[in-house]
Amino acid sequence: MKVVHTIEDLRDQLRGQLRVAFVPTMGNLHAAHLSLMRLARQHGDPVVASIFVNRLQFGPNEDFDRYPRTLAEDIEKMERERDVYVLFAPDERELYPEPQNFRIQPGDNLGKILEGEFRPGFFMGVSTVVMKLFSCVQPRVAVFGKKDYQQLMVVRAMCRQFQLPVEILAHETVRDPDGLAMSSRNRFLSATERAEAPQLYGLLQGVRDQLLQGDGVRETAEARAMQVLHDRGWNPDYVAVRRQRDLLPPTPDEIRNGEPLVVLAAARLGTTRLIDNLEFQVS
Ligand code: PAF
Repeated sequence: MKVVHTIEDLRDQLRGQLRVAFVPTMGNLHAAHLSLMRLARQHGDPVVASIFVNRLQFGPNEDFDRYPRTLAEDIEKMERERDVYVLFAPDERELYPEPQNFRIQPGDNLGKILEGEFRPGFFMGVSTVVMKLFSCVQPRVAVFGKKDYQQLMVVRAMCRQFQLPVEILAHETVRDPDGLAMSSRNRFLSATERAEAPQLYGLLQGVRDQLLQGDGVRETAEARAMQVLHDRGWNPDYVAVRRQRDLLPPTPDEIRNGEPLVVLAAARLGTTRLIDNLEFQVS
């Protein structure tokens, strides 16, 4: 695997390559990232991964400073798996050589609800850096995980609306055996919090099951889940059942008639904010 830190070296490595498959990450790689890279390998050649902790997508009170930076270990993991041909690991000056005045601002619905409401600026930061990375790597396909469900939708919408010639592939959420979605932030959990953390996925399954059994309305199921999280010591931002196609709330008729749905949640456990989601369909 070649490790490059500049856009010039990246372009030298990729000259003439028309089938690049790309996996953007913020590093601190775990099994889920490696699995995105494996999927990329099935859809293109060569595979390029990036590691860049993007300040622009972190709010002032978020965890930019403590976000784990583990480049040496990350390189070892990728070398072992042999899926990645080039790792692009730029520093901040390389990707943001001057104040970023041109920014991509996702639209009112998708960009402003759920994560967009609780993390203002997050999707602007993600869209802007993904556009930059796409412009450096010029991939034909790029792989994103479904754990960051709304991010995946925002990136897809951005590619569609800017006519970017990049196909976005979604990878299923990868979970630990007890159900906890893998995330670099899981390492911040204390032992007690780690034992509690899979409850978030359990709750999503509970909301899904209530709706599958025609047992109660959406709002009641969401409110009940929020209450359970509070009672168990979490600090939830939202538990929301939404349509898969646009993340807007489904009507009772849509739920009954088999509209593809997803229940999404974000909640803080101690100082760690976890997100998760579960797709389902009634009938
Ligand atoms: O999901 C992530 O790790 C980041 O949001 C991404 C897509 C690499 C952009 O910084």
